[in-house]
Amino acid sequence: MDDLKSKYLGLIADASDEAAIEEVRLTALGKKGEISLAMRELGKMTPEERQVAGPALNAIKDEINSALAAKKTALSDAALDERLRGEWLDVTLPSRGRRTGSIHPISQVTEEITAILADMGFAVAEGPQIESDWYNFDALNIPGHHPARAEMDTFYTHRATGDNRPPHVLRTHTSPVQIRALEAQGAPIRIIAPGRVYRADYDQTHTPMFHQVEGLAIDKGISMANLKWTLEELMSAFFGTRVKTRFRASHFPFTEPSAEVDIQCRWDNGSVTVGEGDDWLEVLGSGMVHPKVLQNAGIDPNEWQGFAFGMGIDRMAMLKYGIPDLRAFFDSDLRWLRHYGFASLDVPTLHGGLSK
Ligand code: DAH
Repeated sequence: MDDLKSKYLGLIADASDEAAIEEVRLTALGKKGEISLAMRELGKMTPEERQVAGPALNAIKDEINSALAAKKTALSDAALDERLRGEWLDVTLPSRGRRTGSIHPISQVTEEITAILADMGFAVAEGPQIESDWYNFDALNIPGHHPARAEMDTFYTHRATGDNRPPHVLRTHTSPVQIRALEAQGAPIRIIAPGRVYRADYDQTHTPMFHQVEGLAIDKGISMANLKWTLEELMSAFFGTRVKTRFRASHFPFTEPSAEVDIQCRWDNGSVTVGEGDDWLEVLGSGMVHPKVLQNAGIDPNEWQGFAFGMGIDRMAMLKYGIPDLRAFFDSDLRWLRHYGFASLDVPTLHGGLSK
């Protein structure tokens, strides 16, 4: 009996997994297990023999059962410990950095130009991107037959058949905001209007949607000299260096006289540096606001006068930040955005320095 007992307790101690334990249980206590068979022998014994063997066998059976249960518990505790060791996690570690978005160069440059002009006393005005024919053209002294309408590759909105009102357009420039701001605020006024404009055009330097900023200053004694100073200050502040400007006589229906403005630059093998050299780069249109435009906006041109200008924002961003292809601005390529974008807490500012 003692041999039987130590044999099975030994086997149980050696069992290394649940399957091995089950195996031991069957060999000892299964239907044909050694202990079970021995118990069946009890019937053939004399009552005296049975009285000794019976309780002894039962005791062994109980001991084996509790050894089995204890081993099972020990094995599953060990398995749990093992798993806890493997899945252990240090919750005090710092978290993994998350990728954050960046400020698009167009947004950044819009902010920069706005900050510079706001510092000179210009307030931001806005107008709709879907504009009426009147505001986009007629009020700006661009009549129906004027070639500018065709030249601008205007996108027209669709009207239902039978609706004979003139179609709306996607504004081709920010100039209509001049009229809206004058109607809303009257004179004197100093506003800028940054925003999206649209023309049906697409190549390396043209996209169907692009950005302009309009400027308008109307008062009693404003001249071209004020325009020139404003633009030279704007360019120099924007590029962070003294930038010479060149005013060339030009023509726009909404200004008289009109001037196209070039900035000083230098080209070396395909890349341009602003504020140095003897080349010129055209960056904007400007002039003294045409009396008819003032009249169309309800302002008396005998009493008020002023200047206006319109500038391409995308162009300015390309020049300042060395971006060669305009179309890349609007491709939403994440690698491009990470490269040319600005960290939101580290953008160039007027007070912190506009050139980095
Ligand atoms: N609206 C013109 C354009 O889109 C730019 C422009 C020229 C705006 C002269 C002006 C201006 O305000 O005076 O090409």
